[in-house]
Amino acid sequence: MSFTLNFSSVRSCVNRRKNVSRSFGLVKRRLSGGKSSDVKTRSETSAGKYFVTTPIFYVNAEPHIGHLHSALLADASHRFQKLRSPGIKTIFSTGTDEHGLKIQQSSVASGCDPMVFCNQVSQKFRTLFDLVDIGYTEYVRTVEDRHNTAVGHFFKKLKDNGHIYRGNYSGWYCVSDEAYLTELQVREVQLQSGEKKLVSAESGHPVEWNSEDNYMFKLSSFRQDLQYWLKDDQRVQPERYLQELRGWVSEDLHDLSVSRPNKRVSWGILVPEDSQHTIYVWVDALVNYLTVAGYPDQMVWPPDVQVLGKDILRFHGIYWPALLMAAGLDPPNKLLCHSHWTIEGEKMSKSKGNVVCPKDRVERYTSDGLRYFLLREGTPHSDSSWSDTRAVRLLNAELADSLGNLLNRCTAQSLNPHQQRPPLCPQYKGNMPLAGQKLVEQLIILPDLVEKHYTNFNFYRGIDVIMAAVRQANLFVQEERPWELKNQTDRTKLDSVLRVALEAVRTAGIALQPIIPKLASHLLDATGVPDHQRCWNSMREGFYNTNQGELSTPYKLGSRTKLFGKIKE
Ligand code: MSP
Repeated sequence: MSFTLNFSSVRSCVNRRKNVSRSFGLVKRRLSGGKSSDVKTRSETSAGKYFVTTPIFYVNAEPHIGHLHSALLADASHRFQKLRSPGIKTIFSTGTDEHGLKIQQSSVASGCDPMVFCNQVSQKFRTLFDLVDIGYTEYVRTVEDRHNTAVGHFFKKLKDNGHIYRGNYSGWYCVSDEAYLTELQVREVQLQSGEKKLVSAESGHPVEWNSEDNYMFKLSSFRQDLQYWLKDDQRVQPERYLQELRGWVSEDLHDLSVSRPNKRVSWGILVPEDSQHTIYVWVDALVNYLTVAGYPDQMVWPPDVQVLGKDILRFHGIYWPALLMAAGLDPPNKLLCHSHWTIEGEKMSKSKGNVVCPKDRVERYTSDGLRYFLLREGTPHSDSSWSDTRAVRLLNAELADSLGNLLNRCTAQSLNPHQQRPPLCPQYKGNMPLAGQKLVEQLIILPDLVEKHYTNFNFYRGIDVIMAAVRQANLFVQEERPWELKNQTDRTKLDSVLRVALEAVRTAGIALQPIIPKLASHLLDATGVPDHQRCWNSMREGFYNTNQGELSTPYKLGSRTKLFGKIKE
């Protein structure tokens, strides 16, 4: 992905934001020692570009539904932004996190060379994302040379700016989370054998005591800057996670150990000019967002939205912005933090052996079926519980019955022998039955309402609005009984009923593109909507537009097969 570079200071973008950000710009200048950043960045208005990221995934285990959820939220948002602003330049990055002790240990356990091990699992993520139509523009691996260069440069920049010192780190380390923990973040549990063990209070994974000489990052000196950054109420969504971060920042911020002795953790990137130390895997991993942006050369920065799960909020909401500020770069514009998929109340994870395999579910529900269920049932603000019974019922009721039947009814050869979106008669439009009037009202407000929900990453609420219109359209058809009109010589009423219902299909088809791209394309093909009339604004060309012209124009229907086959319970 290359953007024509138009060198301008990060500040011009910052200044366009709220006061908080303006003062943040000043803070940033202080932090970089008054020197301007050595990186040329291009600020564009949000209308001109969209840069969204997913976390990069650990390759110690195969992908599960929870991983896919992070990627899907970013994908739906990316697709939506492209529909809303056709021609917009975008970066949508994802990839794999392949260094560190956890991966080192997993590769040893598998008896594989670490690189061979990483190649295999990274490819599994990529294959899954391709299978589920995750339309990333950048797939980054932390073992790539370009990433190695970016991390080395970034670390050196922190050092040159005076934010790194040599020190002794003593404390708890959780290998599974690749995280350092304070006394308060650790608790004792009793195993079934009666043995007592210390684990991370948050994740439940075991911890070990470490004491060694490391490079330390002066995180503690960034409290005020982080508070400034977090003053913006829109900075982190949903609000509960913003509050959580504000709470953490007001507590003690300890300096962060950002290296490990190479003899203990060899699978990583070496500290520049010190081959005895490896860079802490979380610093290495976070820099992936800079790597995809082109760092340390000319780049587009900062990301508009970074998607992440609640388990890695501290890394993205505290360490990452502080590290960026220390390097003289802008922190991200926004974080979207989502909750987890659980199984019987527990977070899915390989170590618990309770993961739902996305590949199996694609075979059972199709890729769009799986996408629909995850985005329909996965709410950002609270955990969602995976249930196959629920998935089958929901997909059958909404995709096969509501949407599929509506499409069948208005495109069936017996009712629609000319195979068109027929013209709507103005007299009918002026005297519609109540069910029709209600449908029209819903279709008129739908583009704005769904746009609001999608913009706020509340895809489930957007889908709710769309499905309510689809249900109303079925109700309308049911009341108007077009099958009783088909033998009348005057087809005006039948045509009008079909056109109103087909307007609902067209609108739903456009609005569902970010959620179920294949099925939406099928709906739009079947209803004869040309490619150039599928952007967000095209929805507004129906009832939204008071000009009757468009609705009087007939359109030829396209080819059609069954939309979504019912799944056996
Ligand atoms: N490698 C780190 C991220 C580094 S980003 C600089 C990592 N990887 S992960 O593979 O463990 O998780 C990746 C994403 O998957 C995270 O957003 C995480 O929250 C998400 N999920 C993992 N399990 C999940 C669920 N059970 N439910 C929903 N998402 C969860 O963390």
